[in-house]
Amino acid sequence: MRIGPSVRRLFGRHERLISELYRGIFVNLGDLVASIHEHTRSPTTILEIGCGDGMVTERIVQTFPGAAVTGIDICAQPGRLYRGDRSHVRFLRLTAQGLATAEHTRYQLVIIADVLHHVPHPGWSDFVSTAHRLTAEDGTLVIKDWVRQRTPAYLLGYLSDRYVTGDRIRYPDESELRALARKTCGTDSIQAEFRVRPWDCNLALVIAPPRQDEHPNTNIHPHN
Ligand SMILES: C[S@@+](CC[C@H](N)C(=O)[O-])C[C@H]1O[C@@H](n2cnc3c(N)ncnc32)[C@H](O)[C@@H]1O
Repeated sequence: MRIGPSVRRLFGRHERLISELYRGIFVNLGDLVASIHEHTRSPTTILEIGCGDGMVTERIVQTFPGAAVTGIDICAQPGRLYRGDRSHVRFLRLTAQGLATAEHTRYQLVIIADVLHHVPHPGWSDFVSTAHRLTAEDGTLVIKDWVRQRTPAYLLGYLSDRYVTGDRIRYPDESELRALARKTCGTDSIQAEFRVRPWDCNLALVIAPPRQDEHPNTNIHPHN
């Protein structure tokens, strides 16, 4: 059953507000981008892979006002609900692979928020390694997803994606997400992790070269 797009059309001019409220049940996007900010080094070029309607992009632009921001997605109209300064933002209908082929730019910050579970599972490694290739050598890649748990919140998220957005989805569990990052980006590539309110299912991995002022991998679980 796929009720998402038809229900959304019924919201008309309230679609953006309702989408924000609905998303807020599952993840605080302001917190997500604030935590990303804490883990990065003043990036001037930012790529958001799977930007969707542009809700995260909007917060990225507010939080990193000087940066040039690119949002890409395979949906019909990436950034459709974006309301913000457009002077440093572009939205492109492309896959990460398509962008890597079209341009040779590497971005100082690459963000993948709640996209991986929409990517068919056999393609996860290729998807993440392409994102890593698009990240500058001293840059940061953040992968945030809704990780599998035996909790009511997790189940609610699953049912919402499956029956409201109508997508076929497969969520990673925590150790699978870490293993994927290590396999595609390097054994010691995860520099930090953080959770995003309001649910523990919101896990983000920060993939970057070690900072010189920090002991590498101090706040991660090396054996998970
Ligand atoms: C749940 S939405 C997340 C949108 C946005 N990142 C956010 O957090 O608001 C997932 C998005 O991933 C996009 N997507 C799925 N597979 C993709 C791929 N291979 N490349 C780019 N975008 C993809 C979908 O089109 C959809 O817009």
